[in-house]
Amino acid sequence: MPRIIRIDATGPFKIEPEKFPRDEQGNLKAIWICACGLTRTFPYCDKSHKVCAAGEKPGVLYTYDPATGQVVDQRSI
Ligand code: FES
Repeated sequence: MPRIIRIDATGPFKIEPEKFPRDEQGNLKAIWICACGLTRTFPYCDKSHKVCAAGEKPGVLYTYDPATGQVVDQRSI
């Protein structure tokens, strides 16, 4: 389902390899990067996607409030 997301960033996020999370044995752990656009911790997923995964319907364009993460408009497309 499509959605409109307001993003004010004008450049990339840098992720330093030494800051990657590791397990007790020092092995690298998975990092989840947000693909839905709703996270408040870019570039990382903060599970805000649960809102769109559970509530969006096909054929509808959703607009979210960037401060609250709530739907402020929805239109048929
Ligand atoms: S994919 Fe965007 S918050 Fe999880």
